[in-house]
Amino acid sequence: MIISLISQKGGVGKSALARLLAVEVARAGWVVKIADLDPAQGTSTKWKARRDQSGLHPEIAVEKYRTVDRAIKEAGRFDLMILDGPAHAEQGGRTMARHSDLVLMPTGYSLDDMEPQVEAAYELEEAGIATDRMFFCFCRAKGSEAEDRAARAYLTKARVNVLDPVFPELASIRQGHAEGRAASEVPFPKVQERAVAVAQAIMNHLPGMKEAA
Ligand SMILES: Nc1ncnc2c1ncn2[C@@H]1O[C@H](COP(=O)(O)OP(=O)(O)OP(=O)(O)O)[C@@H](O)[C@H]1O
Ligand SMILES: [Mg+2]
Repeated sequence: MIISLISQKGGVGKSALARLLAVEVARAGWVVKIADLDPAQGTSTKWKARRDQSGLHPEIAVEKYRTVDRAIKEAGRFDLMILDGPAHAEQGGRTMARHSDLVLMPTGYSLDDMEPQVEAAYELEEAGIATDRMFFCFCRAKGSEAEDRAARAYLTKARVNVLDPVFPELASIRQGHAEGRAASEVPFPKVQERAVAVAQAIMNHLPGMKEAA
């Protein structure tokens, strides 16, 4: 199975979501790998090195791939391959999405974040990607309930799917990332709970995952 993290804008939380999902899926007993598709930046690869240094379990396989095609070719060896895409993926994004069981599109609450992401979703739709496989996820979210409601209303009007749980932006998650942890592994139960809820919401959309979890 393949899940893609796609966004027009940079820094929206693709890699954070990739590592959260990888850890939770691994905990559920799946063999998972993150394909780091931004080899110049190598965010996921560097995180994995810090994770190994911290001696954290489960171990998460991460590998840099120079092309999307190479990563896809190897996906069959894993229960789940997570494609951690670069910003502005365009053509690469379409290839990622075409091969994915699920496409996750992280966004913030601001119109500046949502607008390009909605456009990216429409482009994928035009390229033949089924809309029921695409899910927006509020990531790095800081804002009131009113802001959450307004952002959801905007995305609903734009006819895109949005996950219910929100991935909050928190100092503890930032710190966890620096130590090679995923958001569900920070030492605060409330934060863990919120992170796990995001991962679970994603896993619920994967065929065959509910039973495994
Ligand atoms: N929930 C969070 N709480 C706190 N910090 C976060 C959270 N999610 C991501 N970050 C931090 O925000 C920054 C951007 O996140 P991330 O690298 O996941 O975005 P990205 O979409 O993968 O970026 P790029 O487009 O450059 O690949 C990083 O410094 C990351 O550690
Ligand atoms: Mg990234």
